[in-house]
Amino acid sequence: MNNFTFKNTTDIHFGENRLDTELAGVVAPFGKKVLLAYGGGSIKKNGLYDRVKRALKDYEVFELSGIAPNPKIDSVREGQQLVQKNDIDVIVAVGGGSVIDAAKVVSVAKNYDGDAWDLVLDSQKATAQMPLIDILTLSATGTEMNKNAVISNPETKQKLGTRTLRQPDVSFLDPSLTFSVSKWQTAAGAIDIFSHLSEQYFDQSEDSDISRGMIEGIYRAVIKWAPVALVEPENYEARANLMWASTMALNGTVGLGNVNGWTVHPIEHELSAYYDITHGVGLGILTPRWMKKALSAETLPRFAAFGRHVWGLLGDDESVAGEAIQATFDWIKSLEVPTTLPGVGITDTTNFKAMADSAVAVGSLTTHGYVSLNSEDVVTLFEASMDNDGF
Ligand code: NZQ
Ligand code: ZN
Repeated sequence: MNNFTFKNTTDIHFGENRLDTELAGVVAPFGKKVLLAYGGGSIKKNGLYDRVKRALKDYEVFELSGIAPNPKIDSVREGQQLVQKNDIDVIVAVGGGSVIDAAKVVSVAKNYDGDAWDLVLDSQKATAQMPLIDILTLSATGTEMNKNAVISNPETKQKLGTRTLRQPDVSFLDPSLTFSVSKWQTAAGAIDIFSHLSEQYFDQSEDSDISRGMIEGIYRAVIKWAPVALVEPENYEARANLMWASTMALNGTVGLGNVNGWTVHPIEHELSAYYDITHGVGLGILTPRWMKKALSAETLPRFAAFGRHVWGLLGDDESVAGEAIQATFDWIKSLEVPTTLPGVGITDTTNFKAMADSAVAVGSLTTHGYVSLNSEDVVTLFEASMDNDGF
């Protein structure tokens, strides 16, 4: 296990219907002027917007709306102007990862005089952070309890991760707020969680039994409850398990002691940057192919453990490892999302090389990954994603 220093400062308010009575009190210590940040309107359809406005009736509320999936830097720039011009005290972000990520960068952009994109390119430029409260409406990213934000710049065809100075101050995690999430986004969210676990489980650190055991438990919960949420969208226990899995998979805990960087995420971010596809669906296409590529004599024990402890498979290492990769593919397919690039509308191969070069550079994939991948390897992964041959 590597050395680590760990501090996570988010207050979690988990459970049903807490925001109506608790939000105003949570905002109070931070000031009177609130930036309410949200997306394309789902919160207006399901009544959450009215509830939040009611809870904030004694505050001066400014709005940043229309934050799109794969949030664009222009939304952040708009938020930066709003918080600077009106000297806003605190942000309340209501939505999924896209809304919260955009709000996070706005929270550090208030005290930055230049273009907000600079803060995405170089997180060191952030010197201060506004208080940030979020109300999570989609279980997927873990942004509700981490410092990360992922922002897209359509002009430069870049989708890049950055880090803020601290985690959100307070996160309201109400599973019932995810009852209205579509099948597509529920599946994508579950696959995103699965991928966050995989990025940390497949790591060269030895004997990290604590982290590995926690990951295996979260994997099993996601595998079990995602299909339930798909057919019973208002099943509270399903939504609750997925929500806490989202948070626990990426609040820093389960990767403590790890040595490698992530691989499939930087590759998927290229797909989202070029084609604006749903993050979790892209991960679902790439992950089983990456697993096949990563499986070798050296990595066999980890894949066999994955098969035994996550999928409950029995047998010798080789058969368990192979069956586990197949089980991963079958589970993703069972969530009714496309499992090939043409399935998400990517039929041309012309950008594969440019995307692969960028993924390798951004993710340091030749040096930092669990297994080393160069640009040609990544192109091979894209090519293998053009059909379901081999699965
Ligand atoms: O915009 P609205 O109208 O709110 O609709 C959203 C959006 O269309 C909808 N939605 C959200 N909650 C809903 C709902 N619809 C009905 N009922 C609800 N309760 O779902 C759509 C997708 O929302 P989005 O926020 O984009 O989804 P998600 O939470 O999966 O976030 C994805 C983004 O987060 C980044 C991804 O790359 C992507 O940009 N990630 C952020 C990470 C982080 N900060 O740590 C890590 C992840 O690996 C990931 O990269
Ligand atoms: Zn992700």
